[in-house]
Amino acid sequence: EEDVPHVFVVMGASGDLAKKKIYPTLWWIFRDRLLPENTIFVGYARSNLTISDLREKCTPFVVAKPEEQERLEQFWNINYYVKGSYDARRDFELLNQEMTKLGGNKANRIFYLALPPSVFEPVTSNIRACCMAGNGAWTRVIIEKPFGRDAASSEKLSRHLAGLFKEEELYRIDHYLGKEMVQNLMALRFGNRIFGPTWNRDNIASVFISFKEPFGTQGRGGYFDDFGIIRDVMQNHLLQILCLVSMERPSSTSADDIRDEKVKVLKSIASIDLPDVVLGQYVAADDAQPNTDAALGYLDDPTVPAGSNTPTYAMAVLRIHNERWEGVPFILRCGKALNERKAEVRVQYRDVSGDIFKGQSKRNELVVRVQPGEAIYCKVNNKTPGMSFGIEETELDLTYNSRYSHAKLPDAYERLILDVFCGSQMHFVRTDELAEAWRIFTPLLHKIDEGGVQPIPYKYGSRGPERADQMLAENNFKYYGSYKWTDPRKS
Ligand code: BG6
Repeated sequence: EEDVPHVFVVMGASGDLAKKKIYPTLWWIFRDRLLPENTIFVGYARSNLTISDLREKCTPFVVAKPEEQERLEQFWNINYYVKGSYDARRDFELLNQEMTKLGGNKANRIFYLALPPSVFEPVTSNIRACCMAGNGAWTRVIIEKPFGRDAASSEKLSRHLAGLFKEEELYRIDHYLGKEMVQNLMALRFGNRIFGPTWNRDNIASVFISFKEPFGTQGRGGYFDDFGIIRDVMQNHLLQILCLVSMERPSSTSADDIRDEKVKVLKSIASIDLPDVVLGQYVAADDAQPNTDAALGYLDDPTVPAGSNTPTYAMAVLRIHNERWEGVPFILRCGKALNERKAEVRVQYRDVSGDIFKGQSKRNELVVRVQPGEAIYCKVNNKTPGMSFGIEETELDLTYNSRYSHAKLPDAYERLILDVFCGSQMHFVRTDELAEAWRIFTPLLHKIDEGGVQPIPYKYGSRGPERADQMLAENNFKYYGSYKWTDPRKS
């Protein structure tokens, strides 16, 4: 096994995703010697490029320290490039010959589709027809969103793929599943007696899963406008987190046992509709300096069609109709051009019953901060230290940069690409899971697509539409405003 060669193909090698994300990731895992020996990389795209052209394009992103220069040379020495079109079978036959020539006829093959969805179908058909590994070696195909744009188009793509590949050969990336704290949710829930028994409607008031970014679409508006924030972040990243927070304990940590539980909990969620959401679209900040990002509202992005109704902010309340969660709102919130960069999960507990502290005890909250600055902390009430018998809010705090100051947390893409080499599908989205995710959002998305829904304007750099605060309050999420967690390393 050790010496089986591997050929990793980057389809769309000249594109943005390839140079900003895929090549840098390949470099890091090569640099750190995490890949099987005998791995080579082949870029494929329509442009006429040499390896040194490709290297040049990647220069701002594939960076090496002075002491890593020699390793970087080795990296580029095992990179190859093949020019070809996406719909010509002949070109894929040539790619196949090239792969055999470079990797031998027993190599395992991985194809990373860093491509626009318009060519997913011809490319996958051509891979299947011309480029599958032979002689007992395996082939794996990695794809990135968008996986369709609603239930029907996603199902069409899934059927197409299912006609070509087995589920074990398909790796649908949701890069949030590669993040440390997202992966940690299972350890936290199922490895600790302390949380399990309280993880239900009897103890938990609401769950808030939030993603905020402090910048707008930055000239990518034309691409974004076709999708909107719900397809871009909520239907995939936030819903995946929701699954890991709410699913039942899987019977093992095998990929299918986990994915079975995710599908099961998704099936218990009703589709959502307009009354369940607050939608927003950002406008320029009042006090923005001229020529800054903040001076441009979404509609001022020249790549965005005039008068677009596409939301750049969304809050949605999902309800899980099962024995554990009936009546507990799961609030998802995501937005661009907000006041900060932060992704976190807040599990808010119910009020203490029979309170003897004159209403001073605040709700417990378990917070899992995904980024920036991985942390888990639990808001608790504590006796004010000293003579006083009063109580105050504080936290039990596991901040990674102090508790695990030396741990190197790999980037999401590093973990996920290595998982593909290892054949681990635990952190990838299965076909039936994807279908359920689309089912939940499709009725709402169709209403938005029909164009009748006006998003609420909010200022660049703000906390988003005020209506959203009301929605939190209506859904049993209490915000006291009295408490602020501070990073112990910064205070
Ligand atoms: C991507 C979205 O999937 O996730 C982007 O398309 C978003 O719009 C990004 O900015 C956020 O990822 P991260 O890892 O920076 O939180």
